[in-house]
Amino acid sequence: DTPSKVSIVEVGPRDGLQNEKTPLTVQDKVTLIDALSNTGLRRIEAGSFVSPKWVPQMANSDAVLTSIARQQGISYSALTPNMRGLTDALAAKADEVAVFGAASESFSQKNINCSIEQSIERFIPVIDAAKAASVPVRAYISCVLGCPYEGEVSPQAVLDVSKTLLSLGCYEVSLGDTIGVGTPKKTSALLSLLLSQLPANKLALHMHDTYGQALANVLIGLQHGIASFDASVAGLGGCPYAKGASGNLASEDLLYMLENMDIDTGIDLQKLIKVGHHISVKLDRQNGAKAGRALLA
Ligand code: HMG
Ligand code: MG
Repeated sequence: DTPSKVSIVEVGPRDGLQNEKTPLTVQDKVTLIDALSNTGLRRIEAGSFVSPKWVPQMANSDAVLTSIARQQGISYSALTPNMRGLTDALAAKADEVAVFGAASESFSQKNINCSIEQSIERFIPVIDAAKAASVPVRAYISCVLGCPYEGEVSPQAVLDVSKTLLSLGCYEVSLGDTIGVGTPKKTSALLSLLLSQLPANKLALHMHDTYGQALANVLIGLQHGIASFDASVAGLGGCPYAKGASGNLASEDLLYMLENMDIDTGIDLQKLIKVGHHISVKLDRQNGAKAGRALLA
């Protein structure tokens, strides 16, 4: 059944900005996050505690997290691939952290420099320490609908990793269509398998819009009862490992569809559109949100 309420995780400040060529200062990121905090969003991914050699755009995440004007009721999260990342994220007072693995071996190697099995071993102490600090842990799985190195990825592999991460104590698994190759038919097949063994409220969809399929895939997710979706303001982002890749599904486009379906998110579309416009100007890029371009007042 289609949910009447949906929770959106705004990943623009992390997934979006980690892939933007123009590096943003701490102040610019803080301005963006503070503006997002005034739109009604309740979950904002604010940074990533990874190696600055791998992702230089996220190197100032600690300063960002300690400088934002936190608002009551908003969870500011960060990626934490290992204990070092978790320690830094907790020191910067992240409200929530996320581990990130993959359903494809090659992508796991390229992204976090270890096998899927090794990544799980690394995540165990991270999850345990976060829980000991009463910080909820989310999990991402990349390449759930295809891999830039291996092509097809089996839904069974996604199910296996999802089960493992949930059993270790992650509260939700965000299914990443990292390069946006998913289509409604494939998404439907994947969700049918996952939901035969896992509850819908443990799953989220994280769709990149490379082939313009993200919103269609979200609609399939809604029809399967999924009620948690990741999106990026102004469709920020891209992927350094995939030719022609665009960013995540734009938050404005998602919200435009949900509003029309009378699905409650608590977010103000016009406010979000303004934020998307400002960050696009700042980055000197075209606004990747179609609804944002059409409705800019
Ligand atoms: P490694 O090289 O295997 O790890 O990297 P290491 O432990 O040998 O450390 C190497 C160096 O990194 C050392 O520094 C460490 O101190 C440093 P050196 O001695 O060379 O000067 N280091 C760190 N520095 C800061 N923070 C840390 C940290 N850890 C080690 N936490 C590692 C392993 C995971 C760290 C590395 O591969 C890495 O940082 N990868 C990041 C990849 C990444 O951020 N990808 C993008 C996010 S995932 C994504 O976008 C997908 C998603 O959106 C979903 C989807 O769309 O599919 C979530
Ligand atoms: Mg992503």
